Amino acid sequence: MSTSIPVVRPYAVQHKALLNWVDQIAAKTRPDQIVWCDGSQAEFDRLCQKMVEAGTLKRLNAARRPNSYLAWSDPSDVARVEDRTFVCSEQQADAGPNNNWIAPAEMRATLDGLFDGCMQGRTLYVVPFSMGPLGSPISQIGVELSDSPYVVVNMRMMTRMGQAVVERLGQDGPFVPCVHTVGAPLSKGQQDVAWPCNATKYIVHFPETREIWSYGSGYGGNALLGKKCFALRIASTMGRREASAGSTGWLAEHMLILGVQAPWGRKYHVAAAFPSACGKTNFAMLIPPKGLDDNGWKITTIGDDIAWIKPDGAGRLRAINPEAGYFGVAPGTNEKTNYNCMASLKENVIFTNVALTDEGDVWWEGMTETPPAHCLDWQGRDWTPELAKAEGRKAAHPNARFTVAATQNPVIDEAWDDPAGVPIDAFIFGGRRSTTVPLVTEARSWEEGVYMAATMGSETTAAAAGQQGVVRRDPFAMLPFCGYNMADYFGHWLSLGDKLASSGAVLPKIYCVNWFRTDANGKFVWPGFGENARVLKWMLQRIEGKASGQEHLLGVSPRYADLDWSGLNFSAEQFETISAMDLAAWQQEFDLHEELFGRLAHRLPPVLRDIKSRLHDALTQKLAA
Ligand code: OXD
Ligand code: MN
Repeated sequence: MSTSIPVVRPYAVQHKALLNWVDQIAAKTRPDQIVWCDGSQAEFDRLCQKMVEAGTLKRLNAARRPNSYLAWSDPSDVARVEDRTFVCSEQQADAGPNNNWIAPAEMRATLDGLFDGCMQGRTLYVVPFSMGPLGSPISQIGVELSDSPYVVVNMRMMTRMGQAVVERLGQDGPFVPCVHTVGAPLSKGQQDVAWPCNATKYIVHFPETREIWSYGSGYGGNALLGKKCFALRIASTMGRREASAGSTGWLAEHMLILGVQAPWGRKYHVAAAFPSACGKTNFAMLIPPKGLDDNGWKITTIGDDIAWIKPDGAGRLRAINPEAGYFGVAPGTNEKTNYNCMASLKENVIFTNVALTDEGDVWWEGMTETPPAHCLDWQGRDWTPELAKAEGRKAAHPNARFTVAATQNPVIDEAWDDPAGVPIDAFIFGGRRSTTVPLVTEARSWEEGVYMAATMGSETTAAAAGQQGVVRRDPFAMLPFCGYNMADYFGHWLSLGDKLASSGAVLPKIYCVNWFRTDANGKFVWPGFGENARVLKWMLQRIEGKASGQEHLLGVSPRYADLDWSGLNFSAEQFETISAMDLAAWQQEFDLHEELFGRLAHRLPPVLRDIKSRLHDALTQKLAA
């Protein structure tokens, strides 16, 4: 060690570059000590106890929620900060109009100032982690240096973390370096706060050198750097860079992965992209409704948020979930909306920004039909249903979260951890749209599917800071997560499809769904949740060539009679409300597609423009008819 900072390292490290890098960051950030994490339960328990003493965590009532904790963040640090997230590629055009960009040299100078002494009075934790099963050909390794014990314990649940990862790295294995600080150095004797953070925030990616630097926030997506920063932004650039004349490269996607055992005896795997807080975790754990083929369906979870997808030797797309846990949105989750999720949350959970009941358990809006008569809200203030009515104050923050290991999911797929991944049969893309977009549409081709996914819009939610409920284009649900120019990303999808098709591989079908259409009173029409299995059934039957549908402007959708309604009272009129193609609305929708294409014009693949013209011409003809 070149610095005189005390080091706790319970295992040997052979990797010189890793040791040097840790030294170098410690010399810059000047923590009181350096602790190499081993990933053990004892370490987890020790850190949680330390955080309980510091007031960062509250231990929940062990009789009700064993081995579980609650954290309340600073009220200013509750969501991903997209306007403070940067992709600093050498060329601005490579980051694209979809990313905030600052020239790397300028950003490095800024970070240099910010990180100078930023860990004083704190511990620097070295967190080695694997995204994906250790040793899988699709997995990647990262090392996060963080001064937040909250980050360490969350990373232990969200990734494969600890000593085994360092062993895997050996003497010179590649890793993605991730540096995180809450940006709140402590002077000698200064009392810490329960949730240290800084009003200044920077979440920075250098794609060419695959570095991640995060300053000022302790919140999930900004601080657990394996997730959005690595598994999506950096990994998406890695997957594309590995594409060449002879190779398709691979995909890092904002997708859940489902296993679906159909009553006719075949198991399918489906990957589905939805923007944040649009029910991905619910879809990933859905229970098919009673009445649908006498419960002959079995749905299992491989992943709930991110998929890494690579073709195998036969050109079949195979997916792994790079994560090992779920960092899900709590509000709205209950035994009816997501029974399996509630079962996963019985014990061993870290909750963030939910309410604390008088019994020492957690509560959030929608968890039970009757709210508790009294609890403490996510800011520690008294909360009662009466106060909520009078002041419109929520007990839990709308973006309150749970962190839990995937293994607690009662319907985890037996192959969730398989290093070979699972073969993908269909891709689903869905936005949150109260109007315009029909319940489900099958793309006529890979290219048209890419067009539908590329032009997807969604109403914004509390998962990101900023205005909620406004429609923004969210291509592939990747707008906040694509680490390079979105136009190039469309090109990568198109060329991957092209290469696989010309090698004779059968490509997955592509579907577009919308569970969120509302009636004249603003109420959701489609019951959603488990009932979405009816839509899944139609898709899988289509794959088998066994279900019909009706072709329209955008592709093929089921007619009322094409879906299985057994056990559900849903009328043809209701179905019409969520399936109708309002041509005038589509005229406006195409204007918004045009606006998106205008923004991405510089590198937009021409084939997408051609599809747009074709669809728009067809619409104009229909309107004139
Ligand atoms: C998430 C998100 O936390 O998409 O998964 O915001
Ligand atoms: Mn997500």
